[in-house]
Amino acid sequence: MSRIAYVNGQYREMRDASVNIEDRGYQFSDGVYEVCEIRDGRIVDLARHQARLQRSLRELRIDMPMPLAALEIVMHEVVRRNRVGYGIVYLQITRGVARRDHAFPTTPVRPAVVVTARNLNLQKNQETAARGIGVITVPENRWPRVDIKSVSLLPNVLAKQQAREAGAYEAWFVDRDGFVTEGSSSNAWIVTREGRVVTRSASEGILAGITRAVLIEVLAALQITLEERPFTPEEAYGAAEAFVTASSQIVMPVVRIDGRLIGSGMPGPIASRLREEFHRFAVFS
Ligand code: PDD
Repeated sequence: MSRIAYVNGQYREMRDASVNIEDRGYQFSDGVYEVCEIRDGRIVDLARHQARLQRSLRELRIDMPMPLAALEIVMHEVVRRNRVGYGIVYLQITRGVARRDHAFPTTPVRPAVVVTARNLNLQKNQETAARGIGVITVPENRWPRVDIKSVSLLPNVLAKQQAREAGAYEAWFVDRDGFVTEGSSSNAWIVTREGRVVTRSASEGILAGITRAVLIEVLAALQITLEERPFTPEEAYGAAEAFVTASSQIVMPVVRIDGRLIGSGMPGPIASRLREEFHRFAVFS
């Protein structure tokens, strides 16, 4: 079965799906995106992703190209046409097509919309979670507006590649003050030896992850103490547990940071429990 993408008003076979070479997303990374998890063919926490999308667009002064309700229909249709049971739906909106000039187009252009969806391997994902992943730390070198979910991801790409070449799965950025900000495509968490869960505040140099926001509600419901504060790699090395969160992996236990084993070297009980409980608190649409 060939995959189907939505591109500017049309559902196209992937091999025929293309955008204009003067799309500002292509030339300037002038656009934003969202990734939502699909479970049982349904989109997880869509309303929160829509709210973050609107915020990202507002921050970049890109108009919403279509009503949210219409976009929701398109996302569901792309999921349906690709027969995605478990996987992700990807949405990208760029400022549109215009003759190359760094400043915004002076005559209004229509923002460009692309939606794709694909199956992920749930069993493989579960196996990875049962083993836990390795993380390396790298210096933070991104722009200060990482709160915007922009498609401008070059530092993230390079950090992820560095992780892969080091035999790790994710890279955690460390800021100038020596504190972990977040992963190249995930938020970063540790669990102290006292059983308190620690993650950096969403207002300080990270993307406000949707999984992160929902997980904070899960913690409250399970009466697990949360500390929203920065932590250093050294504190993480000595933590009882560590994990990352992202829509594509929910809660993924971390068992190695910079080659040092975390806790017992196996996924910890809190990370494993949070991974199990997460979808009880998620909203499906
Ligand atoms: N990444 N931080 C960064 C830099 C991210 O790219 C992501 C998500 C997150 C977690 O956000 P959320 O829980 O809303 O997915 C944090 C997506 C999955 C991606 O780029 O593929």
